[in-house]
Amino acid sequence: MVGLTGGIGAGKSAVANQLAALGAIVIDADRLAREAVVTGSEGLAEVVAAFGPEVLAADGALDRAALASRVFGDDAARRRLEGIIHPRVRARTAELIAVAPPDAVVVNDVPLLVEAGLAGAYELVIVVLADEKTRIARLVEDRGMTPDEAAARIRAQASDEQRREVADVVIVNDGTMDDLRNKVDEVWRERLASA
Ligand SMILES: Nc1ncnc2c1ncn2[C@@H]1O[C@H](COP(=O)(O)OP(=O)(O)OP(=O)(O)O)[C@@H](O)[C@H]1O
Ligand SMILES: [Mg+2]
Repeated sequence: MVGLTGGIGAGKSAVANQLAALGAIVIDADRLAREAVVTGSEGLAEVVAAFGPEVLAADGALDRAALASRVFGDDAARRRLEGIIHPRVRARTAELIAVAPPDAVVVNDVPLLVEAGLAGAYELVIVVLADEKTRIARLVEDRGMTPDEAAARIRAQASDEQRREVADVVIVNDGTMDDLRNKVDEVWRERLASA
């Protein structure tokens, strides 16, 4: 069981993709969180019961922007939302682990692993780091954020020092995609393939 984390735009998904190509089973916590409140789900019904129909778009899907602005700056609301989503993500993660082959390398991509204090749940924690300027440039270029939005998202998360404290392996993703692939290959060879 490998925990994979890092700040927004650091390159977790890129590392996860490469690990999957090498044979790991990747469980993406963000994706499970989206699935927990997919259109028509019990999770979405609970969100609507908690926050009102104004968090739904006209087609019955979750209006993520409306929900985000509803819980922004309101700790009680955020905790209530987490109380709906997190147990579902945990249950689904356990199901996916249960069906993985016993000798599989299972990589759990969890953006907020450090913030949630989950490092102890993994045999190995991989932290992906990248320079803040580089991350902002990626988020502006690839995700259409403004530099201010990207910087605000980065500031709201744990610091690189906090991530380093729980890391067993640090991957610095400041170079090209090829550099990153080489680093992931090395981590696979030296820390995972033989496990
Ligand atoms: N070494 C690199 N060179 C160029 N672009 C990169 C590199 N690594 C990642 N990227 C790009 O930067 C963006 C952010 O990377 P990625 O999605 O892997 O980050 P993430 O850590 O998963 O972010 P999030 O927290 O939002 O899930 C993506 O568009 C990705 O293709
Ligand atoms: Mg990602």
